[in-house]
Amino acid sequence: MDTPILDFIENYIKSKTSRFHMPGHKGTDFIGCEKFDITEFDGADILYSPNGIIAKSEDNATCRFNTLHTFYSAEGSTLAIKAMLALAIQNANDRPLIFAGRNAHKAFLHASVLLDFDIKWLYPEKAESYLSAFISREYLDRELENAEKKPCAVFITSPDYLGNLADIKGLASVCKKHGVPLLVDNAHGAYLKFLSEDLHPITLGATACADSAHKTLPVLTGGAYLHIGFDAPEHFIKSARNALSLFASTSPSYLILSSLDKFNAIEDFSEKLKTCIERVGQVKKELIKKGLVIEIGEPLKIVINANASGYSGVKMASSLQKKGVMVEFYDEEFVVLMPSPYNTEEDFIKLTKCFSSFTKKPKINNGIAPIKTEVVISPKKAYFANKKEVLLKDALGEIYGEITFSCPPAVPIVCIGERLNEDAINALKKLGIKKVKIIK
Ligand SMILES: Cc1ncc(COP(=O)(O)O)c(C=O)c1O
Repeated sequence: MDTPILDFIENYIKSKTSRFHMPGHKGTDFIGCEKFDITEFDGADILYSPNGIIAKSEDNATCRFNTLHTFYSAEGSTLAIKAMLALAIQNANDRPLIFAGRNAHKAFLHASVLLDFDIKWLYPEKAESYLSAFISREYLDRELENAEKKPCAVFITSPDYLGNLADIKGLASVCKKHGVPLLVDNAHGAYLKFLSEDLHPITLGATACADSAHKTLPVLTGGAYLHIGFDAPEHFIKSARNALSLFASTSPSYLILSSLDKFNAIEDFSEKLKTCIERVGQVKKELIKKGLVIEIGEPLKIVINANASGYSGVKMASSLQKKGVMVEFYDEEFVVLMPSPYNTEEDFIKLTKCFSSFTKKPKINNGIAPIKTEVVISPKKAYFANKKEVLLKDALGEIYGEITFSCPPAVPIVCIGERLNEDAINALKKLGIKKVKIIK
């Protein structure tokens, strides 16, 4: 595939044109990438109404992902998720309602504040961690069958931070039966398209999904896709650019766009991915042999259940860091590593060596299970309400007023507008939180 955006920028650099346009660095090297950093001038196309190089590049991505259309986001899945939800509620007759797996990322909550939709949480039937929410097709079918009000969409996070994959095929067929779009937060799963068995949500029947290209593909941070599936309602395609531009900057980064563009031309990615997954599999086997508990899930993550292996995840991650390995995520319970085909053999050898001092010890349990709380007011009302800060110990029974869970994993344990019950207080305490904002 060709790279129209990158080619355009390279020719522009060669042309030595005087840059009397934004940005202010004028292509001068301060950090080294400035000459590639242009803006939407003549010939460079316009991200949200493209008919030139960006349109061509998106067409390439559409072919590569085999979707009805693939739209670029230069502002992560965070933007694509908001746009996807805006599309879902577009034709709602009354207050929109979304059914969502409880482990949704905070981008989803921000969307609910901005778009003012109600949420019905789908709690996992059994889940050990608040980071997971496995929803079976039977459970979703029951929920939709018995729903007092039909939702505008079902929103599922898959893969989640712990590498769990949802049954997208099953959930998509249930959604189809009930005439409800299935939206997938596939931020962690862009690479699923390139496995020998294609497990991408669009292939499996999702209506739309958001992929962070930057998380698992060789793409700069911020590069993401909004993919629209073949069975999506007509307005999803027609209104997607409007929906994206509702939340996006009018100055998209061409560094990010050219990085998305370049990925279309990386033909050996699937092959490299296959080799990487085999290597990751070997590492997992070595860690299991040492007695460490490795979660079964997507092939590109190494998720160590530190607690089940007898360790604190925080201490394990800190030990790895001291030995020169930076992990993606850790908490008291888990350590999550995200390899990619661009890790070197030296990286994998170093990683395995780092674990030489870890052997299996008796289990401990410092995890946080999903918590059921009562929704009192909508995220939007709660977000804009007057708040006061109180000590956590004094917050029992109050309405929670924050969306501040940091990233990673940015999965809210208690959601804004919900009543803080005993379980919620205990979970927040476990996270070391001492003060919380409540609604006055
Ligand atoms: C599950 C999930 N969804 C969405 C996002 C947001 O993605 P991005 O950083 O591309 O905006 C993240 C980020 O970590 C995530 O983990």
